[in-house]
Amino acid sequence: MPGPCIEVLCMYVLGIESTCDETAAAIVENGRKVISNIISTSVREQALYGGVVPEIASRRHAEYISATVDKALADANMTIADVDAVAVTFAPGLIGAVLVGVNFAKGLAYAANKPLVPVHHLRGHIAANYLTHQDLKPPFLCLVASGGHSHIVLVEDWCRYKILGRTVDDAAGEAYDKVARTLGLPYPGGPSVAAAARDGNPKAYKLPVPHVDGKYNVSFSGLKTAVINEVHNAEQKGQAVNVADMAASFQERIDQILAKKLLAAAADTNAQQVVLAGGVAANGRLRQLVNDGAQKLGAKVYLPELKYCGDNGAMIAAQGYYEYQDGNLADWTLNGLPTLPIDYR
Ligand code: KG4
Ligand code: ZN
Repeated sequence: MPGPCIEVLCMYVLGIESTCDETAAAIVENGRKVISNIISTSVREQALYGGVVPEIASRRHAEYISATVDKALADANMTIADVDAVAVTFAPGLIGAVLVGVNFAKGLAYAANKPLVPVHHLRGHIAANYLTHQDLKPPFLCLVASGGHSHIVLVEDWCRYKILGRTVDDAAGEAYDKVARTLGLPYPGGPSVAAAARDGNPKAYKLPVPHVDGKYNVSFSGLKTAVINEVHNAEQKGQAVNVADMAASFQERIDQILAKKLLAAAADTNAQQVVLAGGVAANGRLRQLVNDGAQKLGAKVYLPELKYCGDNGAMIAAQGYYEYQDGNLADWTLNGLPTLPIDYR
């Protein structure tokens, strides 16, 4: 068992995550303190195909999940008997992948007679911030940007959300991944575009600012197409785009759009706290733009630690704690869902 818990009531949640290419499990104390955190990933194998192959992801989850959960318990010096609840991501995600985690969690919770807590993946990403920022609590404004979603959300309470804006087409992470592919950079695209951008000139290519209805909505498919067209036009002339310059220009444009929309929503709602979440929250330029802009507005800025930006079990355990407190428990019929709005409940 971990060291003595100083709270009056101590709750240990096992969080299980398997929505994409990370099989992850963690033990978190009272939604805030990470006791153990194990991530097994098929990302290197997926990179061979230039993106996630759902069938491969599901098979790897099935192979990795027992050992991943065992290691999370062992690292915490616990057995399943010491855990107070099993939280699992049940939506949204690649359905075959999600079902591996859901079924494993159901079997484990059933056998050990523990409560089963269903966690929405994006709520988990937001909760990643609670692991680092012990003072952070709702209400706050959050940009959640991942491979599948880009939302500007008002987090009204631990389990209450109001969507103010969203992408009308591609998610931010998806745009990073597609642009990386077009530029011949490896998957996952976000980190490789960011790395290439370090040596590039962000003003080298004039990329469009897409028009979109809805004050806080974003659109990235036109931006992505503009990059593809530049690359093709250059190829037809027997030339090549400068990869570093294009990576820097794209990163600057997409990050400016995300930051501008988030900060506009922050100003309009008089947000006192501005938060980033999701895989794209690892982007250094985005972190800088949001940090600088929010400070100008007089809002406090919270950025997730880099190790908790991508998919992990600790963020699911953290949100699982608050879902449990809110009475959101699942029965043994819990199913996985490929899509589900963050404000579903
Ligand atoms: O949240 P996440 O790990 O998984 C999903 O829920 O989708 O997000 C993955 C996405 C990928 O599209 C990846 O390219 C992007 O986050 N990403 C980044 C960076 N690191 C990961 N995008 C921009 N800059 C980064 N440094
Ligand atoms: Zn994610």
